[in-house]
Amino acid sequence: MAGVFPRGFLWGTATAAHQVEGGNIASDLWLMEWMKDSLFEEPSADACDHYHRYPADIGLLKGLGFNTYRFSIEWARIEPEEGFFSQAELDHYRRMIAACHAINVAPMVTFHHFTAPLWFTRDGGWENAKSVDRFARYCEVAGKAIGDLIPYACTINEANIPIMVTMMRQAVGIRGSGRRERALQEAAKLCGGEPGKFSPYLSGDGIASAPNLIAAHRKAYEVLKPLINGKVGITLALNNFQCEAGGEELFKTVDHAINGQFLESIRGDDYVGVQTYTRVRFGAKGVLPPPEGAERTQMGYEFYPEALENTIRQAANIGKCPVIVTENGIGTEDDARRIAYTERALAGVLRCLKDGIDVRGYIHWSMMDNYEWLEGYRPKFGLVEVDRTTQSRKPKPSAYWLGEIAKKNALA
Ligand code: BGC
Repeated sequence: MAGVFPRGFLWGTATAAHQVEGGNIASDLWLMEWMKDSLFEEPSADACDHYHRYPADIGLLKGLGFNTYRFSIEWARIEPEEGFFSQAELDHYRRMIAACHAINVAPMVTFHHFTAPLWFTRDGGWENAKSVDRFARYCEVAGKAIGDLIPYACTINEANIPIMVTMMRQAVGIRGSGRRERALQEAAKLCGGEPGKFSPYLSGDGIASAPNLIAAHRKAYEVLKPLINGKVGITLALNNFQCEAGGEELFKTVDHAINGQFLESIRGDDYVGVQTYTRVRFGAKGVLPPPEGAERTQMGYEFYPEALENTIRQAANIGKCPVIVTENGIGTEDDARRIAYTERALAGVLRCLKDGIDVRGYIHWSMMDNYEWLEGYRPKFGLVEVDRTTQSRKPKPSAYWLGEIAKKNALA
């Protein structure tokens, strides 16, 4: 489907601090990546050294044709010890945001993207009710330091992903080898924490943390609103849940707990960030595997770009606020498949626009190949290839292709 996007449409690429900056040593995951029997394939280490190379990276993105850069500021750097806020790090992020403005790129700044300071996770992370005030206090300090330069703020990246990980683990009946539990116990011991309390975002009890995450966003929204010179929202991991015969009950429970309750909680926000990669189908026996013969991405899940259209519709219907696609993309070694995936996803965005849904932007995950959490550096989500020995960058054909669409503001 060809078509033109609305005037002022945001065309961007996204990254997250821990995945690209390197050296995030005060974070919870740094400890988990380097411990014996780590759950992580490999440590993030220097990542893409974006911490130092951001001026060239932002320049590259602008040169390709994009007008927006979504990235996160790192809580573990800004508040490495509880109550100590590093002015040097706040200055660093202020320079980074200024570097966007200097070349007319709109910065979309995420305040929490998966990683947290070690002290926070040691004390129960988001399972601890104190997380709400702790996060709001950090947002207030950071908001005062850099908020005047921020046109788009995002409080929490994928606030619903902890509950998704926990519920999907249960839905597919993984009782676990105990490896995850052992790693958490070991991490607690290594950092002098109480056994059973260490709770990183993606490996803790997502059902226990969900209410705190919802409350934390609400409080952070109120705190940030007067400090930000623009819009404030949240992003959600919206899997396109689908139901086959016999899966109705499971579908209803899971879809509401993971997507519905979060979308209900953000009504009235300035925008909601939709982040979609694939679909998940439920049948009589629970979660169904991808259909026979379906193409899979490097992440193992189905190549299904139409998922995005469906989740934009769901987000707009329930959330009742403007939508920005804040992540969408594919892990693949075959860049031609990235173009094919993105083209079909964008056709879905155009269909939503045609139906009058208020979609304000499309931000691709990711600007460059980076640290894909547990999977390490193997999955390639980048529009730009990174040689991690020399740290040189090389845009892939998909980068030029999507940059052209951004420049024309149209899909041919
Ligand atoms: C996350 C990113 C991640 C991407 C691809 C999203 O859930 O926000 O950090 O790299 O998916 O898996």
